[in-house]
Amino acid sequence: MLKFPAPFATAIFVCTNKRADGHPKPCCADRGGLELRDELKAMVRERGLDGTIKVFQSGCLGACERGPTAVRYPDGQLMLGVARADLPGILDEAAGS
Ligand code: FES
Repeated sequence: MLKFPAPFATAIFVCTNKRADGHPKPCCADRGGLELRDELKAMVRERGLDGTIKVFQSGCLGACERGPTAVRYPDGQLMLGVARADLPGILDEAAGS
């Protein structure tokens, strides 16, 4: 195993989990998770934060009923019911502003 410091200070995981149509449990992909991930990645680029914040897609974060969901590290903030309007604040908090 190789270990080294990650080249970014903050990681934001946006749930993009997709369940089969008709599945009794909701999924973040059907609630805009993919679009939120894309928008967040674009905002990171636009703000020039590529070197400090990295956006990833994730599987289920375990809060499907309250999705779309995201989690941010290192502060470990789990965010439920994320809307597009929340994205600037999520980045502001991550950047410490
Ligand atoms: S499907 Fe997104 S939290 Fe479960």
